[in-house]
Amino acid sequence: MPTILITGANQGIGLEFTDQYAAAGWSVIACCRTPDKADALLALAGNSPQIVVERLDVQDHGAIDELAKRYRGQPIDILLNNAGIVGPYPLDDHLERQHFGTMDYSVWDDVLHTNTFGPLKMTEAFVEQVAASKQKKIISISSSVGSITEVTIPGIAYASSKSALNRVMTIVAKELAEQHIIVAMLCPGFTRTRMISEKHFQYAIETNTSVKGMRKIISELTPDDTGSFTRYNGDKIAW
Ligand SMILES: NC(=O)c1ccc[n+]([C@@H]2O[C@H](COP(=O)([O-])OP(=O)(O)OC[C@H]3O[C@@H](n4cnc5c(N)ncnc54)[C@H](OP(=O)(O)O)[C@@H]3O)[C@@H](O)[C@H]2O)c1
Repeated sequence: MPTILITGANQGIGLEFTDQYAAAGWSVIACCRTPDKADALLALAGNSPQIVVERLDVQDHGAIDELAKRYRGQPIDILLNNAGIVGPYPLDDHLERQHFGTMDYSVWDDVLHTNTFGPLKMTEAFVEQVAASKQKKIISISSSVGSITEVTIPGIAYASSKSALNRVMTIVAKELAEQHIIVAMLCPGFTRTRMISEKHFQYAIETNTSVKGMRKIISELTPDDTGSFTRYNGDKIAW
């Protein structure tokens, strides 16, 4: 049975990944920051013995090291860096805090720590477990808003955190190629989760559609795809 570790597994896209991989027979290490409040995840885990829930805040590098220590020697086929934030919620009340002229640098700090430092620290901590596995894949959920040529949004903190994540992971992809580890970035598409305002739900896709698409891409990745950036529907995204 292959194993996947997912960060931010208690809601949205991470919860859907947990559900779909467990249903496909995978062993899932489902990480979230507050398991005691993760009702939907706990309900899933209650019905699927192959889901193990772990407490993990990806901003807490000591906790990441501790968790990696506990899983030392256990192969992890896919490390899925999913946890991410767009900035303070409710989104519509705080957007100007990441706009030019009214920038709140503490928001940027928080977003970078979660979206950029978190995935790199996870990768550093769990690389041995991934290297010891059969599939050897490190996947980070990025966003097309991190693309410099494809789309421009005024959200400086969020967009730059994903651009930086992409740059970081293309460097890591080169570093880990010798160990035959595949590193890839995916965009889930505009998806109905807490991350987008409800007034935009009509333009967004369901988590089920997004995750189905991304699981297909992940399953078809080969070493030639390392360092790639792909949308949930298979389209390549311009840097
Ligand atoms: N939805 C979209 O349209 C969209 C588009 C492009 C990219 N994405 C990316 O998709 C990923 C998943 O987002 P989503 O749409 O599913 O949003 P979501 O419903 O808000 O879920 C985000 C998840 O990340 C977790 N998280 C946030 N900060 C964390 C931390 N410091 N440590 C551990 N977990 C943390 C959250 O946990 P809590 O419940 O504890 O807050 C939650 O489980 C993110 O990387 C996001 O940037 C989403």
